[in-house]
Amino acid sequence: MAVDLLLGLQWGDEGKGKIVDVLTKNYDIIARFQGGPNAGHTLEFDGIKHVLHTIPSGIFHDNAINVVGNGVVIDPVIFKKELDNLKKFDLDIKSKLLISRKAHLILPTHRLLDAASEASKGKAKIGSTLKGIGPTYMDKTGRNGMRIGDLELDNWKDKYRALADKHETMIDFHNVDIQYDLQELETEFCNAIKELKELTFIDSEEYLYQAQKEGKKILAEGAQGSLLDIDFGTYPYVTSSNTTAAGACTGLGVPPGNIGGVFGIFKAYTTRVGSGPFPTELEDEIGETMGRVGNEFGATTGRPRRCGWLDLVALKYAVRINGVSELMMMKADVLSGFKTIKICTAYKYKGEKVSHLPYNIEAKNVTPVYKEMKGWEKDLTKMTKADQLPETLNDYIDYLEEELEIPIKIVSVGPDRKQTIHR
Ligand code: IMP
Repeated sequence: MAVDLLLGLQWGDEGKGKIVDVLTKNYDIIARFQGGPNAGHTLEFDGIKHVLHTIPSGIFHDNAINVVGNGVVIDPVIFKKELDNLKKFDLDIKSKLLISRKAHLILPTHRLLDAASEASKGKAKIGSTLKGIGPTYMDKTGRNGMRIGDLELDNWKDKYRALADKHETMIDFHNVDIQYDLQELETEFCNAIKELKELTFIDSEEYLYQAQKEGKKILAEGAQGSLLDIDFGTYPYVTSSNTTAAGACTGLGVPPGNIGGVFGIFKAYTTRVGSGPFPTELEDEIGETMGRVGNEFGATTGRPRRCGWLDLVALKYAVRINGVSELMMMKADVLSGFKTIKICTAYKYKGEKVSHLPYNIEAKNVTPVYKEMKGWEKDLTKMTKADQLPETLNDYIDYLEEELEIPIKIVSVGPDRKQTIHR
């Protein structure tokens, strides 16, 4: 099989960037298939931390080509900043980074619309990253969007103007106080487009078809997590793309039959940033400790992430929807020192115990049922081999493997590339 998938199984921020970076040596192509600069993929090596938003996480390796697929939405301004940050690495960006002509563009007015929409929702706001993701995907499905390929047309600015003007009337419609200087934003946008046009635009589905035919190894990199999926996530508190396995087929043009391994990443506990239900959330000292030790702040927005115990009900749901074949457990080191570790194995839902994810998991409907396990005291961060892991952590892993019926192949014990244990 030609294409493996790598996906987050929770509410994002599982550590996909790190694992893609670790796995890239085994692949010829790394391809992002959905989302946009709402993502923040963090990589650490040689004592430096890098955050990528749109560019695939294989960019630092010489052996791999990085493709931004048709399912991704691109903000030229943020993309330019990402490129600027990469300049010091002397990478051959023109040949290493290829962009789908069918990827949609985030306009400055998409960002403003996102802000206006959130402001008009008041307390019911989604907690969006305000990167314009929702409005851009709305224009895509509404058949109004602008795509990378449009930038190759002489009249792209006319198309831009018509869409931006329409957005301005929509911003007014929200009737909220949003301050902006569109002219300034447009100058920044046009400058960024100039730089973007220096890059290589491709018909990515054709490129990937030929690559599959030639037996090239491809890793599709997901963004966000399964519980933020537009169909299967905790709607409406979700993002606007399909973050689950099917999104890789539509976001790259890869036929389902060509999908090989489906690698599911989860944290040893759970986090969520933004609004929406979170049954195992801990608004106490334990949650605060997880956040502090795990440095749980959004890589894109800097917002503190909400923290809680592992939710096995939600994790099983994500494993099933994605058809996960291998699991990777991240941040096991963050739980070191807790005497007792809890795992949510079922919910009390409207008075009954259920072990599947019900339609509505708001706190008023759902109470988590926990299993308790003994924690591990040891510092894991210097460990490099599976036989060094403490027995109680192995018990935790064994229990999860048994429940999920999928092997946990990687245990991550720190943010650096080297802090990765293969099992
Ligand atoms: P949006 O995709 O920016 O509109 O945000 C919608 C919801 O998804 C909000 O709750 C965000 O916090 C969340 N979200 C979006 N991208 C990410 C991500 O990369 N990691 C974690 N949460 C995200």
